[in-house]
Amino acid sequence: MTLKKHLHEKNRASWNAATPAHNRHKVDQAAFLRGGGSTLFPEELALLGDVRGRTVAHLLCNCGQDSLSLAALGAKVTGVDISDEAIAFARDLSRDSGLVADFERSDVYDWLESSRAAGRTFDLVYASYGALCWLSDLAGFLRGVAAIIEPGGRLVTVEFHPVAAMYDEALERRYPYRGDETVVETSGVGDYVADGGDALSPSGFRRGGDDFDNPYADYTFPFGLGDLVTGCAGSGLLVERLEEYDHANGARLFHALREASGRTWRFAENAPSFPLMFGLVARRTGA
Ligand SMILES: C[S@@+](CC[C@H](N)C(=O)[O-])C[C@H]1O[C@@H](n2cnc3c(N)ncnc32)[C@H](O)[C@@H]1O
Repeated sequence: MTLKKHLHEKNRASWNAATPAHNRHKVDQAAFLRGGGSTLFPEELALLGDVRGRTVAHLLCNCGQDSLSLAALGAKVTGVDISDEAIAFARDLSRDSGLVADFERSDVYDWLESSRAAGRTFDLVYASYGALCWLSDLAGFLRGVAAIIEPGGRLVTVEFHPVAAMYDEALERRYPYRGDETVVETSGVGDYVADGGDALSPSGFRRGGDDFDNPYADYTFPFGLGDLVTGCAGSGLLVERLEEYDHANGARLFHALREASGRTWRFAENAPSFPLMFGLVARRTGA
């Protein structure tokens, strides 16, 4: 895939518009984090392992709720996101929650390149839940990630499954599984927080403003699991774990899903189903 930075800038506008709409549904997030609340799910906690004292680059971190939840566990976190609104919110949330993390606004490709040039390295690189689909050049991203991971350090990701990404909410087949130069244009980042209710708002969910209509289209870049694993192999990242899950954390991806315990959604028992999420851990090899 070739890098499509002009489309990243369009996505920046779409995320800037959607971010305030998302946050207005979430009740006092700073108090939630200050009181010991966490937005992390068991899957990423298991894959990340003990983060105490680790340097973590949380890429495509959105408003920093997960970054600050990692900071509360003792990680030294740098969150990176292209959205001005998301990074401004994350900085405010850090200040108001008393949890310390650095937040940097940048296209992740520029950030990876400037970090590599400056010799910055991290023990862990983490990206999750609707992050990888925004990368117009997944292999290039993985090369950039490998360059900023300490030898022996790891890339960890937990993502919605690319099979699930082929379907719309009504389970109609709408999108390709993958495609080398495929771009999916939709009418803009929507208010999926309104649909997720408590599942995406562990601090408390507030209804209202549900008529959000994003004036800025968005552009995503479908990838397959093979693209990710092969991209890791080509970047000196040794895949140690690839997990697939039959539930979706924090998101009702399809109307047909039923709410299960712990802010998750899954297909009804005996209904046709397919994996809804995957998790990957890859270790940087070499000196
Ligand atoms: C679904 S959110 C990820 C949410 C994340 N799991 C979290 O911790 O809340 C996707 C994020 O990717 C960001 N993004 C999209 N394209 C980007 C790019 N080229 N560089 C950096 N961030 C990008 C968006 O601004 C948005 O905040």
